[in-house]
Amino acid sequence: MAAEPPSGGWDGLPCGADFLSAADLSPRGWQALLQAADSGPGDGPGQPLSGRSVALVFEHPSLRTRISTELAVGQLGGQAVYLVGSDVGLGVRESAADVGRTLSVWVAAIVARTVHEATLRELAEAAAVPVVNGLTDREHPLQALADVLTIHQALGDLGGRTVVFVGDGNNVACSLAIAAGSLGAAVRLATPAGHAPPEELIATARGRAAAAGGSVDVFHGDPRLALDGAAVVCTDVWTSMGQEVERDRRRAAFAGYTVNDALMAAAPPQALVMHCLPAHRGEEIDEPWLWGPRSLVERQAANRLPAARAVLAALAGPAAA
Ligand code: CP
Ligand code: NVA
Repeated sequence: MAAEPPSGGWDGLPCGADFLSAADLSPRGWQALLQAADSGPGDGPGQPLSGRSVALVFEHPSLRTRISTELAVGQLGGQAVYLVGSDVGLGVRESAADVGRTLSVWVAAIVARTVHEATLRELAEAAAVPVVNGLTDREHPLQALADVLTIHQALGDLGGRTVVFVGDGNNVACSLAIAAGSLGAAVRLATPAGHAPPEELIATARGRAAAAGGSVDVFHGDPRLALDGAAVVCTDVWTSMGQEVERDRRRAAFAGYTVNDALMAAAPPQALVMHCLPAHRGEEIDEPWLWGPRSLVERQAANRLPAARAVLAALAGPAAA
C-alpha cells in the first residue's frame, strides 16, 4: 500500500504513490500534472518503465483507457499485460487484496478498472506497487486529466472559465469537478435530482476549487439555466456500464438533458462540446454535436495517451541514467 495522500492532496504525484481519486492531488498537484501531460514528445520523461511491466486489470470493457495505458507503458519503455476481470475472478476466484499482493511480485504498477470503488481500494491497500484508477463507479481520474488538458489546449488557463457538465453525476462528472475546480474553473453540474455526485465528493471538490479561485455548483431542473457563460459543455452516458437494466428508467429521468440544438441554444455561440465516449446517440448527445465543428471529442480521446503517460511516468519515478 502506498502512503495516504495528505488531506489537501499531493502537490505533485509522488513516485510510488497510488492515483485512485482526482482528490489525491492538490490544486498545485493538478497544475503540475497538467503541465507534465501537456509537455511535447521531446520533453517527455524518457523510459522510466524500461525493463518493467504494468498489469491492467479490467472488470468492464474499455477502448480508450486500455489502449492509452497500454501505449503509454510501451512509450515509457515497459510491457503492459492486460487481464480481463472475469478471468482473474476479482473477489470471486480470489480476493482483490490477494490479486493486488500477488501482482506486485511481478509488475511495477497496476491500472485497475473495477465495477465497485471498494474493490479498487481493497486491491490498492494490499498492493506493494502504485495502483491507478482506470474507472470505478465513483471516479475516472485519468479521463479527468485528459479533459482538463483538452480544455487547456483549446482555451488556455482554466482559471475563471465556466465548465458545465450536463447529465449523470457519475464517475466522469465527479473526477472532472474535482480536477477542473482545482484548476480554478467555475464548475456547474446540471443533473436531475437524485443523480448528483455524492455530497461529500462535492464538498471536497468545493474545497479544492475555493483554494484555487474556482467554484463547484450543482443545478437541478432545466439544464439550460446552467449554460449561461459556458466555455465548454461536457456530458457522459446516462446509463453507465453495469446499469443496463436501468436504461428505460434512466432515459425517462434524464429527459431534457440531451446535448442538442435546443440545449446548446442556451449556451454562448462559441461554447465547445466534450464527451468522454463511448456515446449513446439520441440519449445524452445528438450526432451533430458529438462530432460537429464545436466538438472537442476527438482531441479529448487523443489526450488520453499523454494523460496516461504523465501519470505512469510520475508514479514510476525518474528514468535510469
Ligand atoms: N472514456 C473511456 O474511459 O473510454 P473506455 O471505457 O473505452 O476506456
Ligand atoms: N460513466 C461511464 C463512463 C465510461 C467511460 C461508465 O461508467 O460507463
